[in-house]
Amino acid sequence: MNDSIITIAMPKGRIFGDACNLLRRAGFELPAAFETARRLIIDLDDEPFRFILAKPVDVPTYVEYGAADIGIAGKDVLLESGRDVYEMVDLGISRCHMAVAGLPNHSSKRPYLQIATKYPKIASEFYRKRGEQIDLIALNGSIELAPIVGLADAIVDIVSTGQTLRENGLVEYAKLMDISSRLIVNPVSYRLKKEAIDRIVSRMIASAEGSTIGMD
Ligand code: PRP
Repeated sequence: MNDSIITIAMPKGRIFGDACNLLRRAGFELPAAFETARRLIIDLDDEPFRFILAKPVDVPTYVEYGAADIGIAGKDVLLESGRDVYEMVDLGISRCHMAVAGLPNHSSKRPYLQIATKYPKIASEFYRKRGEQIDLIALNGSIELAPIVGLADAIVDIVSTGQTLRENGLVEYAKLMDISSRLIVNPVSYRLKKEAIDRIVSRMIASAEGSTIGMD
């Protein structure tokens, strides 16, 4: 870890645009080509910030291991990863929710509900709390396929606009939780670079969309 530079892990993909807009609102002078560049490490010219561009599910890993001091990650990814990081600001961006969904009027003929998801931890926890035993099928994407082709009775997945569910003839059975992106911090970095990180946190809180703060 370089002491004078703050390294920020950014999630490529769906959240990336929202995260870049937020950083610009917070006064970070991201280069114009930031969103389109294929480079994975981008240093700012005028401030001691280094951005690393990672797959969203990997952001908490970079932050937990200290390869990045700070990161932006969805609450879904944070809950699923269980990584040991400080969650310091609800940035209020990329809002969506986690839901159980499936075919309308579906009734299972299996002894246990078969649930497809890319969030096995969140899904198991949800059904464990309800006292329901399930068979979990871990998939990596296009989860909505599973109930349509009979692979699962239902899915646990994020719903944003609801378009994917609608276009595939699925309906929501239950909502699990609201999701938004969070600013996360490596605990050791926070001890060693507290002042610099607190300044960033303040800038982010001021620019967040309906922010709340807390370290959980
Ligand atoms: C996510 C999620 C849903 C979809 C929800 O998938 O898993 O499939 O977005 O968005 P909507 O409510 O706006 O339609 P993503 O696009 O990240 O790709 P994936 O299927 O490869 O996981």
